Amino acid sequence: MEDKTINSISNLTQPSTKERSQSVLEIWGRNPLQGNVKISGAKNSALVLMAGSLLCPKDCRLRNVPSLVDISRMSQILTSLGVKLTKNGDVLDIDARDINPTAAPYDIVSQLRASFFAVGPLLARFGTVKIPLPGGCDIGARPVKLHIQGLQAMGASVLIESGIVHADVKGSNRRLQGAKIYLDYPSVGATETLLMAATLAEGETTIENAAQEPEIVDLANFCIAMGAKIYGAGTNKITIVGVDRLHSVDYAVIPDRIEAGTFLVAGAITHSEITVSSAIADHLVPVIAKLEAIGCRIINEGENCLRLIPGELKATDIETLPYPGFPTDMQAQFMALLCFSEGNSVISETVFENRLRHVAELQRMGANIRLKGNHALIQGVPFLSGAPVMSTDLRASAALILAGLAAQGKTIVRGLHHLDRGYEDIENKLRKLGARIERVTESN
Ligand code: EPZ
Repeated sequence: MEDKTINSISNLTQPSTKERSQSVLEIWGRNPLQGNVKISGAKNSALVLMAGSLLCPKDCRLRNVPSLVDISRMSQILTSLGVKLTKNGDVLDIDARDINPTAAPYDIVSQLRASFFAVGPLLARFGTVKIPLPGGCDIGARPVKLHIQGLQAMGASVLIESGIVHADVKGSNRRLQGAKIYLDYPSVGATETLLMAATLAEGETTIENAAQEPEIVDLANFCIAMGAKIYGAGTNKITIVGVDRLHSVDYAVIPDRIEAGTFLVAGAITHSEITVSSAIADHLVPVIAKLEAIGCRIINEGENCLRLIPGELKATDIETLPYPGFPTDMQAQFMALLCFSEGNSVISETVFENRLRHVAELQRMGANIRLKGNHALIQGVPFLSGAPVMSTDLRASAALILAGLAAQGKTIVRGLHHLDRGYEDIENKLRKLGARIERVTESN
């Protein structure tokens, strides 16, 4: 495959947003799955590592980078800052030598929340940054107060004007200062922003009540490989000793634990024995525990390969929590599964305030779910019926596909612009496992 210089989103031969938004997935349910599926690199790690590459005044190479709309958008934002990018399959070469920390364009940043990850690295490297506020999204208000409070604790003055964050560090060398930071909530994004900012700060920074997700550990390992001094990533206390500059690196992104979890549920919901490779069991502990509680068996076959053995589906309760609690990004997929289980289950979404909108679409397929605040009370039913349904956000779209795989008849899933943000080629991966699924363009 020839090297592709990324200078605009359409360069990546992706069907246009219009084409994609008109395309739908048609799924004929009740086909058993079999075989192996290989998991792609993690979206939520690749995005922050791309932002992290802004810390480095040299070139970086990232491997195992998935082809997703969100990755293309982050590429477009980096390109607008002056970064040179070349993508070759899942290898991304990044050259952030000559960049302008105040050039992030409003229109693109507003389409991708993760673009706000650039604020920490740019402020740390240049002592100044101007970047639009990310704003809310389908699943919640998503404020960035904790990010900003932490940067202020490190000596930055932050002004928000007309939706734009202006942050500056005064003083001769315009360098952030190490600080003791306590996060009111173990926010993934805030932990990542402050970890990156602290790598080039003067002195020592500690982040208490830090997020512990595997993506945080991957970011820390990436920065350490560039020469940073970071201790305790993956625990609730991270210590960073600032260094003067970082150097080039060649680094591979971890596999996507949420994609792996989604495929494990695909096996469980279709009562199929499948294997999922490039799936790190340690990253999936709460997901595996709940699949076993529901009646499946998961065998760790080593070499990051997990085998799912299906079982009679039983009800269970789930509460989403920060890692190592049950991931909110798997909540919708498990709701689809519990629709088919024997008995009553309760799912409580505690991380995001608006992440239960898939309930109405599952009800359209015949699910018996009642909502009470942020709790969904699910009574298992013998079967769901295929129907035309609309995705309301990224993980909701995955849940509707899973429900369609197990439902009687045909399901049509619309709103695929959500799906394509975070799943690489999911319909081909499912088809290789034996699913009857097709992406077709709907004529208006
Ligand atoms: C990351 O979002 C992920 N996104 C999300 O994945 C994931 O759901 C989330 O972590 C939790 O695991 C990426 O990594 C790109 P948070 P992030 O800051 O960093 C509140 C997916 O489906 N909060 O931990 O935005 C916030 O509103 C996506 O792939 C504040 O109140 O998550 C939310 O309710 C969706 N103030 C809660 O904390 C702040 O300053 C968790 O947010 C920051 C966050």
